[in-house]
Amino acid sequence: MKSKVYIETFGCQMNVADTERAATGLRKAGYDLAASAEGADVVLLNTCSVREKAERKVFRRIGEIRNQANARGKKEKPLIGVMGCVAQLEGSTIFAHAPAVDLVIGTRATDRIPSLIERARGGESSVLDLGEREEGDIWDVSPAERRSPHVAFVPIIEGCNKFCSFCIVPYSRGREKSRSAIEIVSEIHQLRELGYKEVHLIGQNVNSYRPRTLEGLENYAGATPFARLLRAVGDTGMPRIKFTTSFPRDFHPDIVSALEEYSNLCDWIHLPVQSGSDRILKAMRRGHTAADYFRRVDTIKGSRRRLSLTSDIIVGFPGESEADFRQTVELVQRCEYDGLYIFKYSKRNGTPAAALTDEVPEAEKTARFMALEELQESIQAKVYGSYLGRKVSVLVERESARSSEDMTGHSTCHKVVNFRARDKQPGEVVDVLISQAKSYSLYGELTSGPVNY
Ligand code: 5AD
Ligand code: SF4
Repeated sequence: MKSKVYIETFGCQMNVADTERAATGLRKAGYDLAASAEGADVVLLNTCSVREKAERKVFRRIGEIRNQANARGKKEKPLIGVMGCVAQLEGSTIFAHAPAVDLVIGTRATDRIPSLIERARGGESSVLDLGEREEGDIWDVSPAERRSPHVAFVPIIEGCNKFCSFCIVPYSRGREKSRSAIEIVSEIHQLRELGYKEVHLIGQNVNSYRPRTLEGLENYAGATPFARLLRAVGDTGMPRIKFTTSFPRDFHPDIVSALEEYSNLCDWIHLPVQSGSDRILKAMRRGHTAADYFRRVDTIKGSRRRLSLTSDIIVGFPGESEADFRQTVELVQRCEYDGLYIFKYSKRNGTPAAALTDEVPEAEKTARFMALEELQESIQAKVYGSYLGRKVSVLVERESARSSEDMTGHSTCHKVVNFRARDKQPGEVVDVLISQAKSYSLYGELTSGPVNY
């Protein structure tokens, strides 16, 4: 009987993509993939360390898995491996913190997982790999291992060179490394042939895309390699193409032009600002001011397509005064985001900001978080309300949790849309006329006829 591996994924889409890739390699090496930790011979936790809370979760989970295995008797104890960002950052100290762990697999060792497991099964203890990717590493993901048969994540760039002072990602994911355009375009052609309706081009900073050569992009104009890639990918005919995350400093207006030229490039841009105060943006080492950011937003809002705009904000960065926070509030009022992810600053050891001593008290962070959340909710009520009477294109995902008469999915502008339809199947793309709007979702009825992008 084949050995079974279970991979549990935490954190961002990059981890989801790495899990799919690890599963593909494991299946090729003769393993089966299990749907739960119970009964698995190997349990891998693909971890996140962007905030302290995420990191603590991993160690809790290791304890749970160990206890469950102990309860079933010693013979069945699975090998436990930690992969992802916590593995890369903590390295061998994980073995000391959590003796139940047998393997620590860094963020660039995904393709070596089968041989690392073999070593652990052969009796080697504390197997560690924090090495780089190898030349010629394979990015192939088998459709069977993808999380969805309709929406696929396609990594275009890994790592980060930006070194924002609060962020651990440059240390956990290493330097930016772009995939070749030929490989990306060919993967999207294959996905289209397999019937996928939507791809997400993913990376910490997709618009910093800079492949070693421009091979594959010769026939596509554009002010930056990313703008050229968008046009090349637009030409594959994949029905819906989304991309995330965009970095403000590298956001060229030509991205908006590409979106205007290709209707299959979706009407959604995620452009994290982090703060509205120039003083804090400088301390965060973001490389942009609030005015620089507003220029990008004006281009996006000035497009002839109505482009949805979302962002990330950190409240309570060290030294953030009431006046700094007010500037963030003003920025949020002005940007009228379609969605906003708000985070309380979390100190990450090893980052430059960890050395800053003027911490904002937890209660103040919470108060700012709640004030911003309340503001954003009222903005969203207005933004979502503006969709009343409009048609949106929705990729059907599943039955709605609220009612078995309704289905749910995401629009091209990345909003949750629920609609009345008993005869529609996941994977279908439908047009929905919006009749009700809430702050976080839209509701409507099926319709036909052209959708206004
Ligand atoms: N504390 C709080 N939020 C953080 N983020 C990144 N690092 C931290 C941190 N140390 C947030 C940023 C980023 C998002 C993915 O996570 O807003 O855009
Ligand atoms: Fe972190 Fe900044 Fe890189 Fe984003 S751009 S991953 S916030 S260092």
